[in-house]
Parts: sequence; structure tokens; C-alpha cells
Amino acid sequence: MSEFPLSRRSFLGAAGAAVAGAALTPQSAIAAPQILRRSLAAPIAISSDNGFRGVAKAVDLIIKGADTLDAGIEGVKIQELDPNDQSVGYGGLPNAEGVVQLDASCMHGPSKRAGAVGALEGIKTPSEIVRLIMKYTPHIMLVGKDAQRFALSYGYQIEELLTPASREAWLHWRANLSPSDNYLDVSGAEKMVVQSTTGTNPMMLLSPSGDLSSIVTTSGLSWKVPGRVGDSAIVGAGQYTDNTVGAAGSTGLGEANIMVCGGFLTVENMRRGMSPTDACLETCKHVMAMTPPRLIDERGRPRFQLQYYAVNKKGQYGAAAMTGSKYAVCDANGARHEDCAVLFPG
Ligand code: GLY
Repeated sequence: MSEFPLSRRSFLGAAGAAVAGAALTPQSAIAAPQILRRSLAAPIAISSDNGFRGVAKAVDLIIKGADTLDAGIEGVKIQELDPNDQSVGYGGLPNAEGVVQLDASCMHGPSKRAGAVGALEGIKTPSEIVRLIMKYTPHIMLVGKDAQRFALSYGYQIEELLTPASREAWLHWRANLSPSDNYLDVSGAEKMVVQSTTGTNPMMLLSPSGDLSSIVTTSGLSWKVPGRVGDSAIVGAGQYTDNTVGAAGSTGLGEANIMVCGGFLTVENMRRGMSPTDACLETCKHVMAMTPPRLIDERGRPRFQLQYYAVNKKGQYGAAAMTGSKYAVCDANGARHEDCAVLFPG
């Protein structure tokens, strides 16, 4: 993967911030160029693994001077507008009635402001709507029809969010729902796999000047009860930023995350001195402590996946998941996939 070109000015600025306060030893002076390269903290963007293109885009924009939240929104919009990502925006899997309902939220570290939408229908890019709520209202969250009306007032158009593939997946799910309803079951031999999804696209970002932001967007749990709002709409659960500490976000079963306010808890774990990876692992452990028995199997493992991602003000980053998964990172070394730390290996 090619490296992102950093101008000499941004390189030195970020590197200077990274080493500020560190005592210079004779060894570190000799090894200075390498040490600077390894400790170059920002810009950095991390995301769920589907956000690979998004983190690259966001870092490129931050290097060009964009604000961290604006850059993050441009990053997650790639997935929102991608009909092949069935966990986010256009093409996302619908609720039990075949309607795509989207959740999103954001936090802007430097201004200490936030925006959120729940169960938004017909708008492909809820990430842009949460920024409008944040910028142009004193509120934080709008939901349902009124959130849609708010978006229309800013010139957005209602569009069909179901793609032929996501509609077909929903019809297949409905047909197989119950043998006693009046939809004939589709034969199990028929070639079509429909998996329930709790996928999401969260992104956490840090600029060379040390500003942080977070954004998350999702179509939520597929086949959900209409009106169900998940963790992505909830500031402090789906994502959270404290500009003095760090930013964190989540993918996976929203109900499990809401029970621990996971975005907030992960940032608080970092405030208490944990590395981003340890902070994420600690939140996973707390989720297990708060999980009802029906969601825990006979081996004591969760019946669901949940991932946390975090970056701190120093530019350290990490992620942890209930079971093995990857996430996307981009910094001065370019975009790449990395492994999450795992609470339940194997
Ligand atoms: N984390 C996505 C959802 O459960 O809605």
C-alpha cells in the first residue's frame, strides 16, 4: 500500500508534537529520524474493517487541512453510498417491514458538540444530517419523520434506500420466518444466504494539532422491529470523543453496547491510563458482565459480536472484539488492515 505523502511541514509538526516533552538522550538523538517516523502520531483515522477506503480518504483530507469531523464524514460516506455495503446507508438491510431505517451520530472534539439521528428513512447519508443537527440546532438528537423533515429543509431528497439485493434478502428472510404464515418458505436448497447484520461504519480521527472527532453510521440490526434505534444513534454508546483524552466507537450488537455506554466507557478507560487496546478490551469485559443469560452460550461466550475501536490524543490506537476480527487504520504509513485484540480467542 502506498504511503500518503506528508509535506515536510506537516511531518515536522506532527513529529514535533509526538516527541514534545520527551527527554532527549544521546541514543535518541542518534536514532532521531527513525524514532520520529515510528512515533509520528497524526493524522490518523481508524474504523471498522469495511471503512478501509474511508480511513484513507479521511487522512488524505486531514493532511490537506480538513477538520477531523468533516474528514470523517467524507470517509464514512463512501460506505453510506456504496450499494454493496449492506450494513450502512444505501443498500443497508431493512427492518422487519422492509424499510431501511438509519442511525448515526457524531462528536466534534474541539467544539465539544454532538449530533445524532435515529430511525431516519429515505436519506442516503445520515452522517451529513447529524453534522447539520450539530451545527444548526441547540439539540443533539432528532428521530424518525421529523429527522427526515429536518433533512428535507436543507435540500435533501427522499430516495429509495433498498437495493434489489437488499430487498431480495429481506423477502427471503420474511419467507422463511415462520412455517405457519402465508408466505411460502423458500427452500433451504435455494442458493441464497441471508445473514443478519449488526454492521456499522464508525470512524475515529486525530489531526496533527491534536484535535479528535468521531462519527458512526449504520442501517442497524437487520430485520429489527420498526422504530428500533441502536447504539449508533446514541452519543456515548456508538461513539464518543473527549478532545483531551481520545475517541472511541463500536460495531456489533447495539443493545449490548448501549448497556455499558461503550464509547464513553472506552474513553474513560483511556482517561484512567489504559492504552487504547486495553481500554477496548476492558469495555468488552464489562459488556460480558452486563449481558443477560440468553445471549451467553454454554461455554460462557457471547452469542453476538461486538468490536470497539479507540485512538488517544498521543496517536496510539487499538481495537478489541469479542471474537476475532480486523479493523482499518490509516496514518502516515498508509491504509492497512490490522487484527483486533480478542476477548474470546478461537
Ligand atoms: N451497532 C449497530 C446496531 O446494532 O444498530
